[in-house]
This record gives sequence, C-alpha cells and structure tokens, in this order.
Amino acid sequence: MDRIVSKKGPLRGTVELPGDKSVSHRAAILLAISEGEAEILNYSGAGDCASTLECLKALGVPIEQSGENVAVRGRGKFGLKSPLSKLQCGNSGTTMRLLAGLLAGQRFESVLVGDDSLSSRPMSRVAKPLRMMGAGVEARSGTAPLEIAGVQPLKPLEYDLPIESAQLKSCLLLAGLYSNGISTFRMPTSGQRAPVSRDHTERMLRFLEVGLEEEFIKKGSEYRHELRISGDEVPVAHDIHVPGDLSSAVYFIAGACGIKDSELTVKNVGLNPTRAGFLRFMRKCGFRIIESGVSVVCGEPKGQLHVDWKAECDVTGERVVVKGDEIANLIDEVPLIGVMGTRLPGGVEVRDASELRVKESDRISVTVENLRLMGADIEEFQDGFRVGMSELQGADVDSNGDHRIAMAFSIAALFATGETRIINSDCVAVSYPAFFKTLEDLNR
Ligand code: S3P
Repeated sequence: MDRIVSKKGPLRGTVELPGDKSVSHRAAILLAISEGEAEILNYSGAGDCASTLECLKALGVPIEQSGENVAVRGRGKFGLKSPLSKLQCGNSGTTMRLLAGLLAGQRFESVLVGDDSLSSRPMSRVAKPLRMMGAGVEARSGTAPLEIAGVQPLKPLEYDLPIESAQLKSCLLLAGLYSNGISTFRMPTSGQRAPVSRDHTERMLRFLEVGLEEEFIKKGSEYRHELRISGDEVPVAHDIHVPGDLSSAVYFIAGACGIKDSELTVKNVGLNPTRAGFLRFMRKCGFRIIESGVSVVCGEPKGQLHVDWKAECDVTGERVVVKGDEIANLIDEVPLIGVMGTRLPGGVEVRDASELRVKESDRISVTVENLRLMGADIEEFQDGFRVGMSELQGADVDSNGDHRIAMAFSIAALFATGETRIINSDCVAVSYPAFFKTLEDLNR
C-alpha cells in the first residue's frame, strides 16, 4: 500500500514507544535456553520479533503471548527440539544471525530461511566463524537459506571480528555458550573504553547470571574490546522489562526538532549509549533534547526525552560529519540523518557507512535517490553521502520494502511542500506497526 504524507502543523504530544526490537529478540532467545520460567514485559509488536517467537516455538519452546507480555518456559541449554520444518525469519536479519549461533550448538540439523530481502543479505560473516567452531553451515553464495548441522560441543574460538556488527557478536556469544571451553571475541574501538556496536546481548547475559568477561586492552593509542564467554555458563530465567524503542522514537524527535512550534515528550525509552548516537548527532547539530528520569532496568538504561522547539537551540552553520565509530551507534538512523541534513545550514556528510548497502535495502542509494527526487542537493559516495541544506518538495518515493526508509521519508514529507507518496509503506510493520497512527496523532 502507498501512503500520502504532507506538512500539517507542529508535532505535539506525549508518546510511549513499543518495546525495543533488539532487546526483545534477545530476551526471547536467551529465556528460551534458560533454566526456569519468566515473562517479557513490553515485548515489541514488530513483525521481526514475531518471527523470532515463531522460530523458537518451532524449536519446542513453550511461549504464551498476551498483548505485549510474553511468557517463556525455558528449556535449558540442551532442551531445544529438532524443528519439523524450515525456520522462517521473514525480514529479520537479527533473527537469522542470532539463531544461527544458537543452532550451531544443537544436536540436530535446521534450515533458516527469509524473505527476498533477507535472502540477499550477507551470511558468510556468521557462517565462517561458526564453521571454525565445528558446526556445519551451508550458505550457498553466502546468503540464506542457511543450512545448519549443529554439533555438541562446539570448539572454543578465538576470533577478531572483521566488522562492527552486533548481530555477528551476538551470534558468536550464543555459540560460545555451547563450546567446551572459553571463547574470546575481539573488536577494535578507537581510543575509547566502550563497546562500539550495540551491547544488549552482553547486558542481558549478565542480567541472566551468565559470567561474561569483558576487557579493554590498550594497543598504542587504541583500545581493543575483548569478550570472553565459557561454555559452562547457563542463563537463569528472570522477568525482563523491555524499554521503549529509541530507533522508533527518533523519527518523531527529528520531526519535532525540525518543525516550528513542536513540543514532544517520549516516555520510557531505551537510552543505551550504544544506541544513542542519533541523540548525540542531533546535539552536535545544536538541537536541544532533554533527558530526565534515567534509571537502569534489567541492565538497560531508560528514561524520558523532551524536545521543545521554542527552547533555545543553536543550530550549527558548519557541515556536521558523521563517521568512524559513530556509525555503529546510529546505524539504523542514517537515512533519517540524510533527511535532517536538508534542514541544516551546513548540511551533513556521512562516511564509513558502507554496511548500509547490505541492510534491508541498499540504504545509501535509496536515501540518495529519494532525497534527490524531493529536490535535495546530495552527492553519493561508496561509503555514505553529503547533503546540503535544501528546500524539499513532495514526490513519489519508494521505500524499497525497507521500514526505516518509509519512516525517514515520512518525516521528509513533513518538511516538504506539497504531497509525498510513500510507495510500499506497509513495510513499517516489521519494526513499528503503529507508526503512521502515532504520527497522525502527533500531527493533527
Ligand atoms: C541489530 C544490529 C544492527 C542493526 C539491526 C539490529 C541487532 O545490525 O542494524 O537493525 O539487533 O543486533 P548490525 O549489528 O549487523 O550492523
């Protein structure tokens, strides 16, 4: 379905976002192999997270869902059952890559499949290290279907991750739980003692009583991030409260910062620093986004965000550059950053983001193409783009079946003159089914 979006008034109101997608996937997977029973509260309504639940049910995990609450009866590490059919991951890369790690350590064979978009995304990054651990993993031409012949126990692995991917890191931590020894995974971090890619898996493992060792080792002027996990560890079930999804909130925050007289409060939203790169970007641009009531619940920081368009802000006249380690912390927000670039006097330049080319769509080329259709002054690079301040005009823009493109261009539509048609807008359901309803409620 297509959807017409056009400029109305300011964005005003209070929103509470559905549960975080990344945290929801991890909660379901880790509770499935835990000892005991527990509930996930505020489980994401995203289609992607439903795919994870369906796969786990097919692996014999008793799961009962009542609205946003999901009760999981853990089967322990060795209690999963061989699935009767292929495991359908839909559009969800997180489902496929995390489950690949889990299934590598089982005593049975399984096949992970996905939709056309997921079936074109790279899977060798998980297949290669899982094979080094002893599992059989077939990914013809490096993409799904992934045929996995699990092995028990897996061999412990010492591995330097070639890319900053939380999905790969999480896949390997799950496989590490099934090895007969200690596995060590290393990732670069430039000069900082902080993880670069999102660290929800690490936080949740600790919350479920898994001893995970973490070290930042200085090498010259840089640090290396090292994680060590032992195959002796077993997750213990505890109820998990999922914070609201910051990656869904960002669209409204961007809209409120960019539309005169807006005033927006976002309640109960996840504020994990490895996810908050977009907030840091907006502050670097000079927008004021106020955080309050921050607390840590089930290992994850959450709180409230407030944007008041009238509050003093000092939008920079210089080009804002986003690159290097910053990319991983705002990886899903890059299309929206392109849209925001059109509102900034000095524009925006994004670099080191070539990973975006293998997301649900080629997010660099789709962002560039759509912004150009709307009249933006934009240049494409292999690893990003540069966009200058531009007056946007309504146009027909194709989401290419990518939820984050559909949502980012709905905000572009609010900044533009005339009407914008978002072609194939239904894809928002994979992460945020109520997106358009909430946008309408805020933009009456
Ligand atoms: C995710 C990690 C990111 C992100 C994706 C969700 C996760 O992917 O783009 O939407 O839940 O681990 P990569 O870590 O592969 O970049």
